[in-house]
Amino acid sequence: MKVVVSIGGSVLAPSLGSERVKAHATVVESLASEGIDLGIVVGGGGVAREYINAARDHGANEIQLDQLGIDVTRLNARLLLTALGEKAAPSPALTYEAAGEALRRGDIAVMGGVTPGQTTDAVSAALAEYVNADLLVYATSVNGVYSADPRTDEDATRFDEMKADELVDVIANIEMNAGSSAPVDLLAAKLIERSSMRAIVLDGTDPERIGTAVRTGEHDGTDIIPEGAKDEPTFWVP
Ligand code: UTP
Repeated sequence: MKVVVSIGGSVLAPSLGSERVKAHATVVESLASEGIDLGIVVGGGGVAREYINAARDHGANEIQLDQLGIDVTRLNARLLLTALGEKAAPSPALTYEAAGEALRRGDIAVMGGVTPGQTTDAVSAALAEYVNADLLVYATSVNGVYSADPRTDEDATRFDEMKADELVDVIANIEMNAGSSAPVDLLAAKLIERSSMRAIVLDGTDPERIGTAVRTGEHDGTDIIPEGAKDEPTFWVP
């Protein structure tokens, strides 16, 4: 089974001194040792936001800000690599091709951002599409996809399961409201829809939840099952 896991920066490293990076690395290593091919995409979190805000104050343009964000995602990817064993490629992949090559060699592929104008949500979906993954897992700080932004709308309800076109509609609505943030970005939702990729959005602050979801399909988040999605991974059949 081939799985791409997107680990948000604030999930992976809420602070640099935390044990969280090691805990994530332990789960990733144990999944790999069970024979699962893994691509890991790491986000920038609060550190990226701090750099971006500082540079915005200097008058940097949006592409320059994105480039800073990409650098921080790659720094976080390097941090995760320091905690992973020999099975990981030695440096973050800079392209989908390089990540695909790492996977073909039998390494765990780790990467951050790729190009301005998007986030690592889209990178994760694109990598999953590129390597034809069986499953894409978004480990975020929210426990799934809601009908609206739960922080601003008390009537928001969580989906246990949804189709990819529903995901696109929900995210488009949330993104229209300035200041609200969606669990995955619109480009990612579109890529999931077009690739018929089976995906899960879950609260990844406890990395064990990622491990359980990949191994068994059990989780408290949202299953996204696009039209034409592959059957449940055979791995999950007891
Ligand atoms: P993240 O993927 O962490 O974005 O990339 P985010 O949505 O702000 O983070 P979370 O999900 O809330 O933790 C950080 C920044 O890096 C740039 C963007 O500016 C993004 O906001 N970036 C990242 C790119 O421009 N391109 C990429 O491929 C990835």
